[in-house]
Amino acid sequence: MLKVLVTGGAGFLGSHLAEAFLARGDAVVALDTGAQAKVRHLLHQPRFRLVVDSVMNPEILDGLAAQADLIYHLAGVVGVEHYVADPYQVLNVNINGTQNVLRAAFKHGRRVVFASTSEVYGRNPSVPWTEDADRVLGPSTIDRWCYATSKATGEHFCLAYRRLGLPVTILRYFNVYGPRLDRLDVGRVITIFMGQLLRGEPLTVIGDGHQTRCFTYVADAVQATVAAGVVASVEGQVINIGTDEETPVRRLAELMIELGGGTSTLRFVPQEAVYGESYEDVPRRVPDVTRMQQLLGLRATTSLAEGLARTIAWFRAAEPGAPSRA
Ligand SMILES: NC(=O)c1ccc[n+]([C@@H]2O[C@H](COP(=O)([O-])OP(=O)(O)OC[C@H]3O[C@@H](n4cnc5c(N)ncnc54)[C@H](O)[C@@H]3O)[C@@H](O)[C@H]2O)c1
Repeated sequence: MLKVLVTGGAGFLGSHLAEAFLARGDAVVALDTGAQAKVRHLLHQPRFRLVVDSVMNPEILDGLAAQADLIYHLAGVVGVEHYVADPYQVLNVNINGTQNVLRAAFKHGRRVVFASTSEVYGRNPSVPWTEDADRVLGPSTIDRWCYATSKATGEHFCLAYRRLGLPVTILRYFNVYGPRLDRLDVGRVITIFMGQLLRGEPLTVIGDGHQTRCFTYVADAVQATVAAGVVASVEGQVINIGTDEETPVRRLAELMIELGGGTSTLRFVPQEAVYGESYEDVPRRVPDVTRMQQLLGLRATTSLAEGLARTIAWFRAAEPGAPSRA
């Protein structure tokens, strides 16, 4: 039985990762500052423990790292609304919190898997991106780049600690979604569309909707995440985690309306109207998934239609007031 510490373990990905390790028979400690809603169903399990505290607290990390066999560092300030509203918090938690986790892991010699992001590639136009592709970021005066910068800095710290002897694996996730993603109407595009869909309102597509993303169902991402922590040979690797099936945001909205039924239409809005001047969109975001397939032996197999149908059903059940399928 592994003892797994998951920072950010009460978040979206963290809660699914905790479930996956518990299902394997391992024990999980989740360290998180946030709400308990996403792990409430796990709290009764004897092999699960939630510690409500912060990665900004080195003492708590020291104690938890000492007791763990394996550390997943998923805690972070995530979501475009934070990048443009509170860049200080994004930089502070994502950089200094990561250093705290690595320092504790290094002291106790614990293997770390770090949750990084496709955002680190920025707006590099040469998709698909291999893990060695360039990072092409906008100026520091555009706040949205603070997240990509914070995560890339976290990666640099991981690789610097690795040179000192710490076993580390870096995962770059591509638009993971599924049940328990953010609250309706906030966070990522799918939860923003979801709130509008469930109320029968128009789905607000930013720009012309031709910008693409590779939406990765959470079960596929979590399977790869577990493997990255338990397969010894991927220590030291940076690995894209996702599907390479590219979907324009407009098509995502249309598909959600088709699958969810109801009367929603599309409404196109200029990006400045939503995020102000501190935002720049990335036109295409596509991973090269060769490394994930070769090193982890896994592919993301859940189709977008299947994953969205499950996600819509989950949110509809969680929001009983929402209108049912027309
Ligand atoms: N879901 C995705 O598509 C995606 C894509 C790229 C990268 N990631 C990365 O994966 C990780 C998990 O993302 P998620 O989608 O589950 O987001 P999430 O917001 O649901 O999870 C992050 C969790 O970190 C917690 N947290 C924030 N500050 C903390 C602190 N100081 N101490 C302890 N916990 C803190 C939050 O409360 C939250 O529960 C993040 O690091 C994110 O950058 C996710």
